[in-house]
Amino acid sequence: MKSLIVANWKMNPPNLEAAKRLVRVIKKGLRGIAGIEIVFCPPFIFLSDIKNELKKSGIQLGAQNLFWAEKGAYTGEISVSMIKSLGCSYVIIGHSERRQILGETDEIVNLKLRQTLKRGLNCVLCIGETLEEKQEDKMTEVITHQLQSNLKDVSLFSLPRISIAYEPIWAIGSGTPPANPNEIMTAGLLVRKILANLYSASAAQKMRILYGGSVVGSNATLYIKESGMNGLLVGGASLNATEFINIIKTVSSI
Ligand code: PGA
Repeated sequence: MKSLIVANWKMNPPNLEAAKRLVRVIKKGLRGIAGIEIVFCPPFIFLSDIKNELKKSGIQLGAQNLFWAEKGAYTGEISVSMIKSLGCSYVIIGHSERRQILGETDEIVNLKLRQTLKRGLNCVLCIGETLEEKQEDKMTEVITHQLQSNLKDVSLFSLPRISIAYEPIWAIGSGTPPANPNEIMTAGLLVRKILANLYSASAAQKMRILYGGSVVGSNATLYIKESGMNGLLVGGASLNATEFINIIKTVSSI
């Protein structure tokens, strides 16, 4: 299975010019790289321009969020059709920052996921435990609950459109020591086991499980090679062209 590398720009960079510059430098640095699926997820407001920048690059476009209804009186929200019409083939759902800062519940994440699948878009479903939950040995419980509730009423048939990003919240952002690859391997196996219980072993085997949390060029290989993850969700390092190019190059050489 092809590795999937998703760049989650979050609420960055500060303006369109900087966003375009970033894409241009990365595009140039990645010329000739093949065998990896790359997705850029800029803020909504830059999607249209970034789509133009990505023409003929082979890099796909994704959104960082969406709303679960198709249209109507939902001030400030964006539908799947809207992001699709801007050229997105992916959307990130249930990022921990949305869960923690914006109060997204498991039920909301499930509504968004089902709407995305209904409209035929690929998604990256983010799950992961907090530091407190980890210290209380609740990781298995938390992840099981997230997967069960987030995938409620999602059919086996839709699974090929879903990648799961395991992002332990304690490892996101800089400052914390990066997660140990062994720990991530255990978590990845656990996610696959839960998926096998919810669906089937063969369906679970075919799903891509990504790792996210302080990924940089120097640790990217570890998470793919040693932890056996099928891709990476990259935040901070995706805003640094040199670092991001380095991540892609090291993964493509595995
Ligand atoms: P980070 O973010 O790479 O900056 O830790 C990852 C994420 O939040 O998706």
